[in-house]
Amino acid sequence: MVEACKAKNNNVTWFNGHVTRKDREKLHGHKVGVVWFTGLSASGKSTIAHQLEKELHMRGCSSYVLDGDNVRHGLCSDLSFTPEDRSENIRRIGEMVKLFVDAGILVLTAFISPYKSDRDKVRSLFPGGEFVEVYVECPEHIRASRDEKGIYKRAKAGEIENFTGISAPYEIPQNPDLVIRSHHKTPEEAALSVITLLERRRLFQWK
Ligand code: ADX
Repeated sequence: MVEACKAKNNNVTWFNGHVTRKDREKLHGHKVGVVWFTGLSASGKSTIAHQLEKELHMRGCSSYVLDGDNVRHGLCSDLSFTPEDRSENIRRIGEMVKLFVDAGILVLTAFISPYKSDRDKVRSLFPGGEFVEVYVECPEHIRASRDEKGIYKRAKAGEIENFTGISAPYEIPQNPDLVIRSHHKTPEEAALSVITLLERRRLFQWK
């Protein structure tokens, strides 16, 4: 499947419009980039990302959450959970994030993104340092207890192949910008810890 989706880069040229990312940042009143949440399924990535989006929205910041289940319904519905397809999933998402950022949006992502090399490739799309990696950590028994879809139970019973943390690897970020232990924080506290980090580093700087 991945092979069939490889870009045929013949005779295409990048077109720059009249309005630049800087113009859009000026219009929106803040700089943009991506806060990249990574962690195992049911660790709390999406919940925290959506809480952060709410907090940023209240501060007048144009932000948007891209989340694993939603993207896999459409853009990446042709991809499975093999290592190759996960890499392709994250590659497509990285390119999509780049377009959103160019559109002047502060992007918050919630994908397991288990492989360091895939995360690093996305990071390399943002050479200005506007890629902030947040590792969401949570012990297995809590993740399993939050598992409304019953997916952990099925994975443990061997009914789901390549399940991250059970039958497929998760490479823990060695040097993330922030670690959130989601079992020790409410989603509100977790979101505020990201805001504190961004403010301290003077990143994105909404008013
Ligand atoms: S990623 O590894 O490619 O980054 P992604 O974040 O898009 O994964 O998808 C994770 C979502 O798919 C979670 O909601 C999870 O419950 C579900 N899922 C289904 N099958 C698997 C699997 N084999 N491994 C991990 N997550 C899975």
